[in-house]
Amino acid sequence: MGKRIIEAVIRGACSLNVYDVGETIEGLAAKLGKKPSEILKLNSNENFFVPIELLRSVLRQVIEESDPRIYPRDEYKMLREAIGGLTKIPPECIIIGAGGDQLIDLVSRIFLREGDEALSIEPTFTIYERCVKVQGAAYRSIPLKEDFSLDVDSMLSTITPKTKVIFLCSPNNPTANQFRREDVLRLADEFEGPVVIDETYADFSGKTLIDAAIDLDNLMVLRTFSKTFGLAGLRVGYLAANRRLARTIDERFQMPYSVSTIAIRAALKMIDKWPEIAGTLSDIRRERDVLVAELNSIGGVRAFPSETNFVLFQVNRDSKAVYRALLKRGIIIRDIGRVLKFDNCLRVTVAPRPLMERFIRELGEVMCEGA
Ligand SMILES: Cc1ncc(COP(=O)(O)O)c(C=O)c1O
Repeated sequence: MGKRIIEAVIRGACSLNVYDVGETIEGLAAKLGKKPSEILKLNSNENFFVPIELLRSVLRQVIEESDPRIYPRDEYKMLREAIGGLTKIPPECIIIGAGGDQLIDLVSRIFLREGDEALSIEPTFTIYERCVKVQGAAYRSIPLKEDFSLDVDSMLSTITPKTKVIFLCSPNNPTANQFRREDVLRLADEFEGPVVIDETYADFSGKTLIDAAIDLDNLMVLRTFSKTFGLAGLRVGYLAANRRLARTIDERFQMPYSVSTIAIRAALKMIDKWPEIAGTLSDIRRERDVLVAELNSIGGVRAFPSETNFVLFQVNRDSKAVYRALLKRGIIIRDIGRVLKFDNCLRVTVAPRPLMERFIRELGEVMCEGA
């Protein structure tokens, strides 16, 4: 028996979910006796369309220009201004953070206390539940409708005086669909607390509520550099909200140096590359549509439409067996299991053509083998 306070925290933590990052490239390569370059990592919706040579050259320039002895400061302002230019919102409405995850945690810390409740949807990104529960608050999730749209009436009728925040994800992970603007706005209108809409994948759908966030009292939009800009490893994200709320969060709650100088400067340089990034976004949309069609042409596979950089699909057998069979071939995807009434679902990241060709070929073989 260890120290009482430590023991209580460790025991209490058993009810928190462990975020499953899945197999890693190096780990799987070592297990299979393959080279890391032979592993296809398609389980975390990372963006392999942004050329690695471009990112490395940006990082080299950033290193040359940075003095790591000094805390970042002006960089935050510069990045807020650049994001403001890109998204057409005032820089004062932006809060920079260490990726979407850190901002979800920040919002949870600000609005939730023990005994409170947070409302979300089912299925969705699991970090909301983790952050809510860390605060000692209860997490309540309302299933999406069969067509994956929001069940606004059920959500509204679940709100109690204890409900302090609503988390939505649009386009949603893992269902890959965008929610109707009017549905989200109705929730924001009828709820007294913040509605956080996680738009991690919005650049792949081309639709956003960021314009509404700056005007409304309680809508916050979460965006990240991880997917659109291919900077998942650097950890940069931002939250957009009305000026008063954004300044309060930024000045009173966010840590003063939450993101490193290197990461902020790299994000700034990537914004300058927007024309190239916009090109990769159209490539992703095109490849995604091809992938959905190809998946649907494999017997026993049914792909759902996607407005993201990943595709959810259902197989007519145990999805875990399909996941494992692909893993043995050096392909990492995500086993999702049941999604509402659809059992045996899997999720795969959209990647450039040669990678998709290999994935489709090997999935076809796995399905023929009767995994
Ligand atoms: C819906 C959703 N929100 C947030 C994140 C985390 O993004 P970040 O890398 O900015 O922390 C992810 C990552 O996959 C995600 O799918």
